[in-house]
Amino acid sequence: MRGKFITFEGIDGAGKTTHMDALEQTLRAQGREVVRTREPGGTPLAEKLRGLFLHDAMDPLTETLLVFAGRRDHLTQVIEPALARGAWVICDRFTDATFAYQGGGRGFDLTVLNTLEQWVQGERQPDLTFLFDLPPAIAAQRLAAARQPDRFEAQDQAFFTKVREAYLARQQAQPARFALIQADQAPEAVGKQIGRVLADKGWA
Ligand code: TYD
Repeated sequence: MRGKFITFEGIDGAGKTTHMDALEQTLRAQGREVVRTREPGGTPLAEKLRGLFLHDAMDPLTETLLVFAGRRDHLTQVIEPALARGAWVICDRFTDATFAYQGGGRGFDLTVLNTLEQWVQGERQPDLTFLFDLPPAIAAQRLAAARQPDRFEAQDQAFFTKVREAYLARQQAQPARFALIQADQAPEAVGKQIGRVLADKGWA
């Protein structure tokens, strides 16, 4: 089977990492080449932009242009070549995060986001996107136990409510691409939801 492009999305504190690790292991155990990557970032240039994006104050247009600039580099240097040779790409966040955080959270113009998406990606979209959905109050409790917050993690619950709604709007607009995961459950239960999605597709 040729590789697929799988992305993981959700508000900060949704608990994606454990499940990305598990999927990577499952695919590798099947003998597949896996490219594990993330956004913002994924190339030396895009990782430099990530540092600016997460920690320096800037207006929403600058924020949006930076994240799409990094995405362009990531697509041309890493994602497209990997898919072309048949590898599986597992990416922590992608363009849905821009619609959710810059569009929903910051209130940035969605028509501009649509144009940038088209410019930067052409027809490229993930084959499957796991959207980890949970109430922002639960995500905030999980984050409080974690590390020093970046510019986004430091936002209040009203911000994350808007981000969550924008993610769900994106999922409702493109239901075939998304798998909606109830992420307020225990890790084992979340893992089972993911396993069912992959089994339904015949991928794992
Ligand atoms: P995240 O995956 O949470 O990194 P980490 O777990 O290492 O903190 O992503 C970093 C932050 O960037 C996250 O708060 C969401 C935000 N973000 C955007 O605002 N727009 C985007 O397009 C992307 C990809 C991420």
